[in-house]
Amino acid sequence: TGTVTYDPGFANTASLKSDITYIDGDAGVLRYRGYDIEELTEKSTFVEVAYLLIYGELPTPDQLAAWDARLRRHTLLHEDMRRFFQAFPYDAHPMPMVSASIAAMSTFYQDSLSVHDEEQIDLSTVRLLAKMPTIAAFAHRKAQGLPVVFPDNDLGLVENFLRVNFGFPSEQYEIDPLAAKALDQLFILHADHEQNCSTSTVRLVGSSQANLYQSISAGINALAGPLHGGANSAVLEMLEDIKASDDGAKSFMERVKNKEDGVRLMGFGHRVYKNYDPRAAIIKKTADEVLEKLGGNDELLDLAKSIEEIALADDYFVERKLYPNVDFYTGLIYKALGFPTNMFTVLFAVGRLPGWIAQWREMITDPETKIGRPRQIYTGSGLRQYTQLHER
Ligand code: CMC
Repeated sequence: TGTVTYDPGFANTASLKSDITYIDGDAGVLRYRGYDIEELTEKSTFVEVAYLLIYGELPTPDQLAAWDARLRRHTLLHEDMRRFFQAFPYDAHPMPMVSASIAAMSTFYQDSLSVHDEEQIDLSTVRLLAKMPTIAAFAHRKAQGLPVVFPDNDLGLVENFLRVNFGFPSEQYEIDPLAAKALDQLFILHADHEQNCSTSTVRLVGSSQANLYQSISAGINALAGPLHGGANSAVLEMLEDIKASDDGAKSFMERVKNKEDGVRLMGFGHRVYKNYDPRAAIIKKTADEVLEKLGGNDELLDLAKSIEEIALADDYFVERKLYPNVDFYTGLIYKALGFPTNMFTVLFAVGRLPGWIAQWREMITDPETKIGRPRQIYTGSGLRQYTQLHER
């Protein structure tokens, strides 16, 4: 009821109040619970940032130790769930394997169906954060036709994640501290970004009082699209295509500007940032360090940098305030760490998980939450008379 406003993509509509993440898109500022992203990536860890996002405060040493211990205790998957990974087609993309597995958690943890029990929500929170890295890695191993590696609860979340992805045979596997540090930092940078498409999806699904697993599985599907999280793998494919073609970066950019076949410069532009995405600035530095030390593909990094340079000096991009976003440089790092391109968006999902959980929890406890139910402007035909099939 009341006046219905036409606002495609909710570009100008705030449908909730939130204490979690602050973005100033013109100034290029991003803060979680008031802390600048630059400071968090430098001084904090992903496990601590997850706590901060979900509970609102930095943990004390005791709280952090208890949190870390709880996360380590829940990394294993139910044996029946492990069998999913045998049943998925051998060439399945890991992203739908992950969303299907998260949805299936409602079947293994049926106590989660009540959404008003705080202790239960806490248990679902821990189960999700602890099992998501295992699920992601099992999907990776399946998509590569490799045997799974079981988690080792002596390891922290990010180290364990590297192990379950790459630690075969496990006795010989050594975790590279630089890889662990880079991944930890990338997860922090992805951990929340207020009301983006996947987070809005989590909240919208959850607003019907669907449980955490159902809501987050929906968020993972929303993240999969190339205009959202899927952009990180699309960037790498784009760079590889440009490198393989005879035409080079300049002619690719002409195609983008002429909107030929709807081609866009992937990893550029953002609904909210009309300035350099602060995450991209940090990631660009990390890409330099990681590729130098782990020996990634420098040629692709150079190509990405030259494309950025062309774009930032070109009127088309300047007028539209299009800058590199979080997805522009991440793929190059993931590749250098050994992940295949189809895992990039899964890595985004592992990082974004604490944000989705924090947002869902804020939504479910907010007395002002209403079921999400946008309005529309009807543009179809007026009343029509039904014609019998034989008369048509
Ligand atoms: N390449 C070329 N032109 C672009 C691009 C791009 N990447 N992004 C926007 N534009 C143009 C667009 O064609 C339009 O031009 P015009 O006014 O002449 O029609 C203008 O800029 C405004 O674009 P829009 O589509 O109205 O902007 P939006 O806020 O709806 O879309 C976006 C934001 C992120 C979907 C878009 O910039 C895009 O498609 N970028 C490429 C995909 C990408 O990198 N996505 C990742 C986003 S960041 C984090 C994440 O979600 O993963």
